Amino acid sequence: MRKFFLAFTVVMVALLGFATIKIGVVLPMTGGIAAFGQMSWEGVKIAHEFKPTVLGQPVELVLLDNRSDKVEAANAVSRAIDYEKVVAILGEVASSHSLAGGAVAESKGIPMVSSASTNPLVTQGKKYVNRVCFTDPYQGAAMAEFAYKQLGVRTVAVFTDIEQDYSVGLSAFFRAMFKKLGGKTFNEFYRTGDQDFTAQLTDVLNKKPDAIYITGYYPEIALMSRQARDLGYDGYILAGDGADAPETVKIGGKAVEGLYFTTHFHVRSAVTELGKKFVERYREVYGKDPSALAALGFDAYMVIVNAIERAKSTDPDKIAAEIRNTKNYEGATGVITIDKNGNALKSVVIDTIKNGKFEYVTSLVPSL
Ligand code: PHE
Repeated sequence: MRKFFLAFTVVMVALLGFATIKIGVVLPMTGGIAAFGQMSWEGVKIAHEFKPTVLGQPVELVLLDNRSDKVEAANAVSRAIDYEKVVAILGEVASSHSLAGGAVAESKGIPMVSSASTNPLVTQGKKYVNRVCFTDPYQGAAMAEFAYKQLGVRTVAVFTDIEQDYSVGLSAFFRAMFKKLGGKTFNEFYRTGDQDFTAQLTDVLNKKPDAIYITGYYPEIALMSRQARDLGYDGYILAGDGADAPETVKIGGKAVEGLYFTTHFHVRSAVTELGKKFVERYREVYGKDPSALAALGFDAYMVIVNAIERAKSTDPDKIAAEIRNTKNYEGATGVITIDKNGNALKSVVIDTIKNGKFEYVTSLVPSL
C-alpha cells in the first residue's frame, strides 16, 4: 500500500509538473516598433514573477514576435492557439495588429487582452477581445482639451499615418474635439516608414499653426520633429501614446525637447500599492524606470491570470466571461474595471520631454 501511494504521488507530481497553463504573448519584438514590444515584454515578465502560478499550476508564457507586421500579427495568434494551445492571448500593441490578431482570437473563441491598443474597433462587437487601456476618442479629446485650454493653442496641423488604424482614428477624434472647442485644424498625411516630410512640413509651415500634432509612432514622430525644427518651426509639437518610447529622444534629440504627449502611465503617476511595488521591482531588475508599455503589459497579465483564478477553470469561455467581470483591479497603471464591451476607463497622463527625459505634467479625464 505504501508503495502504491509513493508511486501515485510520483506520477501525480510528474503530471502536475508538466501541466502548465499557457498564455500566448504576441508582441512586436523586432521591426519598426520593436521598442514597444521589448518594453511590454519586460513588464509582462515582472508580472509573471509576482504571480507565477494559477489554479495550482505554473503559468507558462509563450512569446511570439509579430515582427511589427499586420499579416504576422494574425499568423502569430493562429500559431499560439493552434500549435501552442494557449488558453489566452496577451497582446498586441499596435491597433492594426490587434485588429488582425483579434479577428483570429474571436473566430477561434480564445480570450485576448490587449495591453495598449487604443483604437475603438479593436474590441467593438467582439466577445473575446479586451483591453486594459483607454481608447482613442478619450485620448484625442484629452490632448485637444490640454492644447486648447492649457497651452492656448488655436490652430493645429494634424499629421496622420494613413497606414495605421491607430493614427487615422486618433487624428479624427482629436479634430472633432478641437473643433468643438473652437479651434482650427489642417490635415497632412504620411506613411509608416517615410523618411522625408519636408513637402508636408513646408506646406503646413506657410499656414503658421500654433502646434503640429503627430498621431503615429515614434520613428516618424522623431524624424518629423527634427525636420520641422530644421525648417525653422518653433511652435508646439504634440503627439499621442505612440511617442512613448526612449527612441523618441534617441532619434529626435533636441528637436523633441518640449514635446507634449498623452500616455497611460508615468512612474510619478503610480498610485496603487501594486503600482509602487511594480516600479520598485522593475527598477531593481532593469536598472531604469518602467514605461507605460511595461506597466500596461504588467496589468494585462494580471487581468488574465486573475480571470483564470476566478473562473476556476481554463475553459476559454469561462475565462473570457471573467475578464469582463474585472472590477476595481488595482493595477500598475491605475484602477481597472473592464466594461461589457471589453474596454477599460482610465485617466489620461500627459508627459513632456525635458532635458531628454519624460516628465510627468498632469493626469486628466476629458469632458468628451
Ligand atoms: N495606442 C497605440 C495603438 O493603439 C499603441 C501604443 C500604446 C504605443 C502605448 C505606445 C504606448 O496603436
